[in-house]
Amino acid sequence: MIVSDIKNMADEIKDEVIKWRRHLHQNPEISFHETNTSEFIYNTLASFEGLQVSRPAQNSVVARLIGGRQGKVLAIRADMDALPIQEETGLEFSSLNEGVMHACGHDGHTAILLGTAKILSGMKQDISGEIRFIFQHAEELYPGGAEELVEAGVMDGVDAVIGTHLWSPLESGKIGIVYGEMLAAPDTFYVTINGKGGHGGLPHETVDSIAVGAQVVTNLQHIVSRNLDPLEQAVISVTKISGGTTHNVIPGSVEMMGTVRTFKKEVRKEIPGLMERVIKGITEAHGAGYDFKFEYGYRPVVNKDTITSFIHDTAIQLYGQEAVQVMKPNMVGEDFSAYLEKADGCFFFTGAGNSEKGITYPHHHSRFTIDEDSLKMGMEMFVSAALSFSGAGIPQNVHKINS
Ligand code: NI
Repeated sequence: MIVSDIKNMADEIKDEVIKWRRHLHQNPEISFHETNTSEFIYNTLASFEGLQVSRPAQNSVVARLIGGRQGKVLAIRADMDALPIQEETGLEFSSLNEGVMHACGHDGHTAILLGTAKILSGMKQDISGEIRFIFQHAEELYPGGAEELVEAGVMDGVDAVIGTHLWSPLESGKIGIVYGEMLAAPDTFYVTINGKGGHGGLPHETVDSIAVGAQVVTNLQHIVSRNLDPLEQAVISVTKISGGTTHNVIPGSVEMMGTVRTFKKEVRKEIPGLMERVIKGITEAHGAGYDFKFEYGYRPVVNKDTITSFIHDTAIQLYGQEAVQVMKPNMVGEDFSAYLEKADGCFFFTGAGNSEKGITYPHHHSRFTIDEDSLKMGMEMFVSAALSFSGAGIPQNVHKINS
């Protein structure tokens, strides 16, 4: 199998894949409610030859392609859920579901993996081992679908796992690779400052929860800048704050919440204690009380160097060195990390932005869309990776490509 064969096969079904993506885009469903979406995926997969299709969780679908010979098992994952956003793209295939939109490109991920399954299912005899296609529900909402699927055994026997995210900040035509730490652990915290309410003109008779809360917000910033090793990455953001009702009443309490993003296990474990120390110290100093809750979210996505090199090679083989961008880590979260607990793997970006076509909006924006040319690239990446993985395994000569 050579590069031009793979590109021709992807070209042949490109229009069908775009059709699937548009169908999914028009009929988005939010996390844990992907009933019609998973039904559509199931039926589409069932129409291909030679796949064992099952539903390991209510709204998920897994297809196994077991090759003609013994070999390794590669899992490829796509997510399928949409977001609670009112679409404003004006596209002819805009969402028909009020207040729900595919604003992160998961419609594209599903279409890419369906196309990949279609191509590979026609090549069963050329495949050694197994290619496992995982269509996961609920990536956008913690606790996420990935953990549930892992518990249901979808990673049993898997040697490596790969996945991609269509990425509008990266131009279509490019593949983005990150070695090692790629996406952060997104944890959530809740703080309530309990003061003593009273008259706005008589502050001495109150414990002003707003004044204390403001100091808490400011001092939480000192954790990243003063307590953590400057060479480690971390974010602490207070993203919501509420308290008070009118101009002449000091409220009894203030509530806030926010996000913490980290990569390293040790840093992640250290932060809740440091936060509580700040909150406790400041509230005590002013005679206030507090409630503090810290919730761990998804684990960080950390790519394995060997598989990342393999994906890097695959991209260079398909598109040349210029099309591949080695990127910095990113502070968004992804439950792809759940699969990485079970097998080595690599998550990569497929460029989906296109400034000439006006495709520049960020993910989770009401005008977000993707350059549909990126769907073909995603398929080519997966097909090519699957064929080399199941054929010769991971190439040992990293980046020494004969093309
Ligand atoms: Ni996403």
